[in-house]
Amino acid sequence: MKFQTSKEGPLAVASKMLVQGCFEGEIPFGGQKVNNRIKLEGFTGKLGEHFIHFNDVAKATRLLVVGLGPRDKFDVKALRKVLTTVLKLVKDNKLDEVTFAPKVGEVDIVGAETFGENLATYAGLVDYVINHQKTARGKHKSEIRLQTVTVLVDDATDAGVTAGLAKGQAIGEAVNFARDLSNMPAGQLTPNRLAAFAQAVARKSGGTITCRLLRGAQLRRIGAHALLAVAQGSTQPPVLIDLTYTPKTGATDDVLGFVGKSITFDSGGLDLKTADGMRTMKRDMAGGASVLAALSAIAKLELPVSVRVVMAATENMPDGDSYKPGDVLKTMAGLTVEVDNTDAEGRLTLADGIEYIKRQNASKVIDLATLTGAQRSISSDVGAAGFGNNDEFSGLVAAAAKSAGERVMFVEMWEEFRDGNKTDMADLKNSGGDPGSVTAAWFLREFAGEKTPWVHLDIAGPSFRSRELGPDPKGSTGFGVRLLVELARLSVKK
Ligand code: BES
Ligand code: MN
Ligand code: ZN
Repeated sequence: MKFQTSKEGPLAVASKMLVQGCFEGEIPFGGQKVNNRIKLEGFTGKLGEHFIHFNDVAKATRLLVVGLGPRDKFDVKALRKVLTTVLKLVKDNKLDEVTFAPKVGEVDIVGAETFGENLATYAGLVDYVINHQKTARGKHKSEIRLQTVTVLVDDATDAGVTAGLAKGQAIGEAVNFARDLSNMPAGQLTPNRLAAFAQAVARKSGGTITCRLLRGAQLRRIGAHALLAVAQGSTQPPVLIDLTYTPKTGATDDVLGFVGKSITFDSGGLDLKTADGMRTMKRDMAGGASVLAALSAIAKLELPVSVRVVMAATENMPDGDSYKPGDVLKTMAGLTVEVDNTDAEGRLTLADGIEYIKRQNASKVIDLATLTGAQRSISSDVGAAGFGNNDEFSGLVAAAAKSAGERVMFVEMWEEFRDGNKTDMADLKNSGGDPGSVTAAWFLREFAGEKTPWVHLDIAGPSFRSRELGPDPKGSTGFGVRLLVELARLSVKK
């Protein structure tokens, strides 16, 4: 997709669709013909209200008039709503080109750069179609996709809009990269293949990202026995993916650590899932996809903060070699864990991932994980459930989510629920406590400790949906990418 600005006037621009906003109770440009149409439609300018006028007043083929709501209530949130509506109309009308004529002050209210960034981000998000494997032989007809987005600007807004468009494009592409990874069949996206994607991200970073892969003997040497245990039943070897982003301006004292659950297929292991439970489990690496994609955007935006990313990638499969209920594992951190349920594999791989990233001197750690089905009874498929050991850092993550337009519902970690992970056989057990999402968070917290600020986002629900929601399509959403990029930005400002 190409983004550009133009200083042409709205009446002179040749476009398949010219988009014009209109605040509630105000009158859009277009003269008598458009005014007549407005009366006919009963159009009042409420947020998202719209009509398409086949244009006989300007050079463009169509004029899309869209309501911006009350002028004094217009903000980034309203802008995102309008953009989602408009861009979905562009998609539904199968247009390869659209021109925005923001001429009623909406750019000044939110700021030129913010306007450009959100426009480009949302164009990427809404334009996404699943990277399917349909063929012409299977009667697939290729569809028209959006190619060119133009924004009409003036001397005062051009530089800001242009800069914003470039940033938004990078963010949109990163979210779609995460969606592609997470939508990919497990038969194709093995742990090794995921590692190859991580290497490619490093290769394309212009030297700011390095990628290290740890396998078999190295994993045993560093004591990643929880990861190794989960991988035992799979013919696919596990790999610990370790990425380092160092800004061109030099490493910072503050080192953000991102850990992403990277189970490329979760069958449940010997505690096998049902057919229904297994159907979506190729997406059990959505956390890993999001941390990797976010890192690629952070590098592209050249954010001046050091970031570490860890993905402990493996399948969870049943086999004669599988780890078993009742087994006791020694984690990298030294804590022993009794396996209560082989389907609670995510917290085992994350335990080693969190310990590993702490050893790499991450000063703050956030993990994203499709960890528990029970998360859905907290925040459904709308947003993540958030947990943390440090109010200030949790507050920062909440602020990042808000500013990125992603939802996190923070849940208190009552001390009482820590006991859900107790067992006679070992320091901890990996399942059995109630409520499930909170005990799982407590399990991770035993490894995060209390000194390093840490947040856990359970993204089981929002990482993939069976319905469209806002700018997200059905299927994998790339949840968390925008939040993590924003977190890196906020960490710089502090
Ligand atoms: N990957 C699943 C959690 C999951 C379920 C994610 C549905 C997305 C949709 C996780 O590994 C799992 O199986 N969790 C179990 C834990 C239980 C055995 C303690 C669960 O939530 O049922
Ligand atoms: Mn599982
Ligand atoms: Zn899982």
